[in-house]
Amino acid sequence: MFIKIDNLKKSYKTGEIKTEVLKGVDFYLERGHVGVILGPSGSGKSTLMNIIGGIDRADSGYVGIDGTDITKLSDNALTDYRREQIGFVFQFYNLIPNLTVGENIEVVSNISKTPLNTDEILTAVGMDNKKYRFPKELSGGEQQRVSIARAVVKNPKLLLCDEPTGALDYSTSIEILKLLQQINKDYGTTILMITHNSAIGGMANEIYKVRNGEISDAIANEIVQSAERIEW
Ligand SMILES: Nc1ncnc2c1ncn2[C@@H]1O[C@H](COP(=O)(O)OP(=O)(O)O)[C@@H](O)[C@H]1O
Ligand SMILES: [Mg+2]
Repeated sequence: MFIKIDNLKKSYKTGEIKTEVLKGVDFYLERGHVGVILGPSGSGKSTLMNIIGGIDRADSGYVGIDGTDITKLSDNALTDYRREQIGFVFQFYNLIPNLTVGENIEVVSNISKTPLNTDEILTAVGMDNKKYRFPKELSGGEQQRVSIARAVVKNPKLLLCDEPTGALDYSTSIEILKLLQQINKDYGTTILMITHNSAIGGMANEIYKVRNGEISDAIANEIVQSAERIEW
């Protein structure tokens, strides 16, 4: 199993008030699969993803990624793990505004040990003709394509996408989901995606529903849908 999580707990303290966000989450994802985490706002999805991505730390539990329990890593080792092995895609793209498309990607490839070629990845996401544009000159869907290119150029083992279509219209969302499915096929990248849109679960191998900090349902999806056939 590529991701294996047992009894993961996480709470935040704000002043005197302690909020239990994850209350004992069990979770797995096979290598090369697509996993989708579904749940309403505030249910703990981003917290779970941030722990898997090494942005945040668990209070207790086992978080196995490709055989390593990342809860046991030092801060430096966790930073290396995040830099070298994880690609992130966010709802609002998070591109650097004063760098061109090509430069946004090279910021990441320059610090990677085994980067893919920038032009190859720009072609893969359909943005090879926009290499010298700035983010503000692009549509939302185009900016998300660039942010996917930036996440994938480091050739990550795991691609984490937090509401990647949350700011996009329907047809652009489908284009982005098709692209993620293509990346999964072409590069064999394991993908874990968060969404509150249950229709997107159709393209996953494993679907998890999160409610109130707990997994309320875990579904092994027998018939994975092509992204272009997803409707909502
Ligand atoms: N850094 C933090 N400090 C305090 N509370 C937090 C922090 N991050 C998240 N929370 C709280 O944890 C709960 C779950 O948040 P989150 O994981 O972002 O949910 P989701 O992604 O499902 O919307 C929310 O109630 C949120 O306010
Ligand atoms: Mg969230």
